Amino acid sequence: MYTIPTSDQYLMPTYGHQPIAMASGSGCTCIDEDGNAYIDFGSGIGVNSLGYCNPAWVNAVCNQVQTLQHTSNYYYTAVQAELAQMLCSRTQYARVFFGNSGAEANECAIKLARKYSFDRYGNNRGTIISLKNSFHGRTMTTLTATGQDVFHNYFFPFPGGFTYAEANNLEDLKAKLDDTVCAVMIELVQGEGGVCTLDSDYVKAVADLCKEQDILLIVDEVQTGIGRTGTLLASEQFGIHPNITTLAKGLGGGLPIGACLVDAEHADVMGPSTHGSTFGGNPVVCAGALAVLQQVSAGGFLDDVLDKGCRIRSRLLQCSEVAAVTGLGLMVGIQLKTRKAADVLQDCRKAGLLVLTAKQNVRLLPPLTISDDELNEGLEILIKVLENAESAAQ
Ligand SMILES: Cc1ncc(COP(=O)(O)O)c(C=O)c1O
Repeated sequence: MYTIPTSDQYLMPTYGHQPIAMASGSGCTCIDEDGNAYIDFGSGIGVNSLGYCNPAWVNAVCNQVQTLQHTSNYYYTAVQAELAQMLCSRTQYARVFFGNSGAEANECAIKLARKYSFDRYGNNRGTIISLKNSFHGRTMTTLTATGQDVFHNYFFPFPGGFTYAEANNLEDLKAKLDDTVCAVMIELVQGEGGVCTLDSDYVKAVADLCKEQDILLIVDEVQTGIGRTGTLLASEQFGIHPNITTLAKGLGGGLPIGACLVDAEHADVMGPSTHGSTFGGNPVVCAGALAVLQQVSAGGFLDDVLDKGCRIRSRLLQCSEVAAVTGLGLMVGIQLKTRKAADVLQDCRKAGLLVLTAKQNVRLLPPLTISDDELNEGLEILIKVLENAESAAQ
């Protein structure tokens, strides 16, 4: 097989690859080039929300690619219009901008917040407060928005205009809310930061504070959005409706999309020529996203996600290697007592299960459509790996 050596030779070595090459997938199971099967509790980092090659999604994408694969954003397409309408009406936003990734969705949000502030208050009100331990992307600006020093390296100079507040510490946020601030940007569950859920009271207080001072609240739902946490948007569970919500990952079901949703009050801030993307809102990608949104919106779908999340949590809490289970719905963080998450990931892979890590924790983001059988089988592999660790540690 040439895949691994050729990739290692020709790709920039930016990723810590696992030593397997994926060849195909069906349901929530993928197959590597050697024919080994893996139950996937990672969904390509939360992307394959409907699993591998979901029939309705495949149909929608194939039909679209055979009809019109691309046109420029100077022309309208029915599929883009339909997706925009359904996304806005399901989330109660007024307008959306489509890009190609989570970072791009956040770039749009940052530009929108700064422009709103500039239009209304003039210069020198462009600071954005983000939270420590956050992750917002890998472009220069979203890296800067990311509140982790480890990402603020090498690529100097970073753009200015960001300050970082301690998550769940309202006093710290208040102390940083000076008259240069135009927006606060948060994840409701800090995914890359270790699957850390913000306190509901804190989130509500931040939303109130922003409203009082005409500061825009941007919620980055790139990882939490489109059913991942058991509601279409995680913000529903916190009782807030942010001015801006960003989406990506699971929305496309496997094709690259980013979406920046904005409320009615700020819907016309980004006028002609203020933003754009060659590929953003591509018809094939929109067709895939529409298929995802239709399935996630079907009656009972999200209840099922919540139910599966509860089952995972209660099974994991029976395992004595598990110190705590964090997150919401099918976004699960597992704090371990004795083992390193990276070792658990390797042992799971060898046993036919793909999991993720986030900081020192194991992270699960299984497809939202995972069957009971695949869920149970995957969980038993994970528990066995963790329990073997217990006996190894004794
Ligand atoms: C919360 C959050 N925001 C933004 C991003 C960046 O998304 P992308 O890699 O699609 O640019 C990620 C990716 O992990 C994320 O988890």
